[in-house]
Amino acid sequence: MAKFKVTPWEVEGEVDYNNLIHQFGTKQLTSELINKIEKKAGYSHHMLRRKIFFSHRELDILLKEHEQGKKFALYTGRGPSGHTHIGHLIPWFFTKYLQDAFDVPLYFQLTDDEKFLCKQNLSLKETNKMAYENALDVIALGFDPKKTHIIIDTEYSKTLYKIAIQIAKKVTASTAKSVFGFTNETNIGMYFWPALQAAPCFLPSILGKEKIRTLIPAAIDQDPYWRIVRDVAPKLGYPKTAAIHCIFLPALTGSSGKMSTSTGEQSTIFTTDDEGAVRKKVMKYAFSGGKDTLEEHRKHGGNPNIDISYQWLTFLEKDDNKLKNIYDDYKSGKLLSGELKQILVDKLNAFLKKHSENKEKARKNIDKFLLKD
Ligand code: TRP
Repeated sequence: MAKFKVTPWEVEGEVDYNNLIHQFGTKQLTSELINKIEKKAGYSHHMLRRKIFFSHRELDILLKEHEQGKKFALYTGRGPSGHTHIGHLIPWFFTKYLQDAFDVPLYFQLTDDEKFLCKQNLSLKETNKMAYENALDVIALGFDPKKTHIIIDTEYSKTLYKIAIQIAKKVTASTAKSVFGFTNETNIGMYFWPALQAAPCFLPSILGKEKIRTLIPAAIDQDPYWRIVRDVAPKLGYPKTAAIHCIFLPALTGSSGKMSTSTGEQSTIFTTDDEGAVRKKVMKYAFSGGKDTLEEHRKHGGNPNIDISYQWLTFLEKDDNKLKNIYDDYKSGKLLSGELKQILVDKLNAFLKKHSENKEKARKNIDKFLLKD
């Protein structure tokens, strides 16, 4: 038995991603598929090179169909339970790359209903407000308003509800229990809710009035939804959804599992953190692979493989040479832990400065992105 657990609502233990491919029944991303994507994009993406995206469902078929001239759409989303953190952005960066590469529409779901239902302490008013706030983070990444459609669930319910009930009718409580771990104590809203996360998979077909497959770039914890949706799709006459999965950005504190606000403020960098907060959190909390004393570190070097600042740079530093130099210098003891942390702080702050400016500009554009019915 694996000593870890991954569901859409909790990640526990040290995740063995190869084992997860096996558990979930997904497929490893092959170099052939990576080459196909990179060729279309015109450049290689570091998240593909470094196996941050590592697994898929029927991406091979989707790409083959695309070569034959068939359309597809991208779909991803976010549960607005709080401010956006760096971990959330990882699949979104990659989604932007895919949208640019294939010139396809993106549907982005903000689940204010889900977070209201599953979080005891949040009101619908709060999750809805946070959905608008999170939408700015999406827009700030530079998505094209002509091709990007943001859904706030409670504000697009007329359309979503009709799709969701079709799906819900085909899924029993016993399936929901075994796939999502629901119990008799789970509220009945949650039993129905997965049908809402499934609904956007079919939305492009409904709006486009032709069969359009969706491709979902997201962290692997969301895969249980796609398993259900793929079972239901042929019963409702829609193409099966394809998916491409990424690993989790580890918590700053190095505690295993995915970085989440619930593991504490200190394990997360929010897009709303200012320069000082970023520096303080990284310096104080980022788990270090360095030695206890300066002397020992210079002599024996640090361990980049367990150092969280280094791990974060594998997600954020695109330049392979720069990353390799950091790795080598840290391992040899030339680069100290504080210096490595400073590299990460500078990287984060440079990104966040630009991101905050883009968010401010996004405020007046939000209506161009929102789907309303
Ligand atoms: N349930 C997701 C979350 O809590 C939000 C979400 C909705 C999502 N639709 C999605 C995530 C599609 C990835 C892909 O964050």
